[in-house]
Amino acid sequence: MFIASDEEVTPAVLAAMENTADPRFKAIIASLVKHLHAFARDVNLTESEWERGIGYLVELGQRTNDRHNEAILASDAIGLSTLVCLMNNGQGGNTETAAALLGPFWRMKSPVTESGGSIVRSATPGPALFADIQVKDAKGNPVSGVEVDVWQASPVGKYENQDDTQADMNLRGKFTTDSEGKFSFRSVKPAGYPVPTDGPVGELLRAQKRHPYRPAHLHFLLFKNGFKTLVTQIFVDDDKHLESDVVFGVTKKLVGDFRKRTDKAPASDVSGDWYTLSYTFHMEPGEALLPTPPIR
Ligand SMILES: [Fe+2]
Repeated sequence: MFIASDEEVTPAVLAAMENTADPRFKAIIASLVKHLHAFARDVNLTESEWERGIGYLVELGQRTNDRHNEAILASDAIGLSTLVCLMNNGQGGNTETAAALLGPFWRMKSPVTESGGSIVRSATPGPALFADIQVKDAKGNPVSGVEVDVWQASPVGKYENQDDTQADMNLRGKFTTDSEGKFSFRSVKPAGYPVPTDGPVGELLRAQKRHPYRPAHLHFLLFKNGFKTLVTQIFVDDDKHLESDVVFGVTKKLVGDFRKRTDKAPASDVSGDWYTLSYTFHMEPGEALLPTPPIR
């Protein structure tokens, strides 16, 4: 068909996609087209603004590589990741959930570590942290055999893949829960960090006069067949950015009880203050699917 006016564009595009075989794919793309066209109309998008938007998407791709994922960061910074996370967890978004966004730094093959072991794999300054974690099902029964990935930034606010001074896989580990659904590990108290601001996401934050900080946190990914994979983060309770996380990831349930301790630590090499964290996760019944790792 010939298109005579802007009103005729949207129905023409939808008609052209009418034979899409996969019904879910058809619904998603049709809705995307309708909303994108409506958005262009809503803001009276100019040609130069459209060009700038396309350039922005191109730059997200060009800035993404094996060690960095700018596209996920962009989704995080506009709240889309948290929205999708909250809609899909907590019984389909109906109850408060302990899930949180994956973020751009999960790696697939964290080193398998015995319960009680340390994830500090190269000299890392900062107060020692001893974490005791338990996993329960929706009814409160402990869940054994859950594979749990843990990853975090160092106390200077960098993940090992961003920092050549850290050993490969520093502050990353994979644990398995025991018959009581428990595991424990040693690490260092994490620090908050700015998300990378040298790319298009930084440009967006500066234009909006937003700070780039995430409150300090530990990441967890819990996987066991028969349960919905739980991707989440536990936040340090004394962080000043808890209520202004640049990626909107903090819910009340995810603020951990990080206890400062001055008594004798459980390891002889600990000097100065140290911290403990106890936290219980609840897994929902569902499908055990792993996300695609944002980086290698
Ligand atoms: Fe993080």
